[in-house]
Amino acid sequence: QTATLDFEIMPTSTPTPEADRLKAFENLGFGTLFTDHMAVIKWNVDKGWHSAQVTARTPFQIDPASSVLHYAQEIFEGMKAYRTADGRAVLFRPEENARRFNESAHRMAMPELPEGDFIAAVEKLVQLDARWIPEGDSSLYLRPFMFASEVFLGVRKATDFIFCVIASPVGPYFKGGMKPVTIWVSQNYTRAAVGGTGAAKCGGNYASSLAAQAEAAAQGCDQVVFLDAVEHRWVEELGGMNVFFVMDDNTLVTPPVAGTILPGITRKSLIELARDNGLTVEERPYSYDDWKADAASGKLKEAFACGTAAVVAGIGTVKHQGGEFKIGDGQTGPVTTKLRSALVDIQRCSAPDTHGWVH
Ligand code: COI
Repeated sequence: QTATLDFEIMPTSTPTPEADRLKAFENLGFGTLFTDHMAVIKWNVDKGWHSAQVTARTPFQIDPASSVLHYAQEIFEGMKAYRTADGRAVLFRPEENARRFNESAHRMAMPELPEGDFIAAVEKLVQLDARWIPEGDSSLYLRPFMFASEVFLGVRKATDFIFCVIASPVGPYFKGGMKPVTIWVSQNYTRAAVGGTGAAKCGGNYASSLAAQAEAAAQGCDQVVFLDAVEHRWVEELGGMNVFFVMDDNTLVTPPVAGTILPGITRKSLIELARDNGLTVEERPYSYDDWKADAASGKLKEAFACGTAAVVAGIGTVKHQGGEFKIGDGQTGPVTTKLRSALVDIQRCSAPDTHGWVH
């Protein structure tokens, strides 16, 4: 889709000095460093989408009665720009983010943004902030989001929204870098129920994961894993990423996207890459009891978490109330490593893009 909006491009008059940017690039973590610009598009019930700009990154002036601050009408996306070895800037499947953003908008009673305008906003920001795309294993994390800006305390869908894209140069999501992660099984909390917002990328899903995530951190774990809300039996997803299991018969198992889990773009891409590599992929419910039993018997060889931010991270240990168990030898396994490389090599254009994913 082509863009329908004309973007006004207004470069900042006070760009970050090159020496400061280079200094900040020496030790990249996740989500603390930001570029000089942001893209903004406004929506109003009378005017529709209007006032598209790429401008200096600056705080919003938010009225205390803005409805997002009260009823959390907010959605977001996560995507990355990569620097290729020959110096180009590329995006990975941005049309998938644009489509999912509109699915989230629909669920949250928010206006849909034409896919061409979503992609144009991202592209124009990346073009203006191109010097902020790190090389090597790092990347420029892009965060498109939209929130209700109407000044109104009644509970109904808002009449005014702001869409924005910000950009953050990032290194590894987990502090341990490539070390396998440890997962905490939440017994006290669930993430989403059928008919709820589990499949939408709305801020509320992440807000409701934080108490469980804090419990995980208190147990020395990197991420929480949620079980289903009805039977408390089926593995759903982690606090901020999808989960895969590698079985001894070259089968990959991952929970199905059936309304309660986020339809990850990394998840979807890995399913295709696994099939390219001769693996059988089963999108089916997998129980926590089977997880424990299969880890003990050795049927389960590997498990990994995946997402745009996390990429692919091996799961070494699973902790729960009353104990813990290891998966395989507790290290990142060969299938996880192979799938991670297959994905990352396409994203960085060091392998042929046979699926047409690179933009
Ligand atoms: C992403 O992977 O992009 C997400 O939105 C999840 C969050 C852990 C940052």
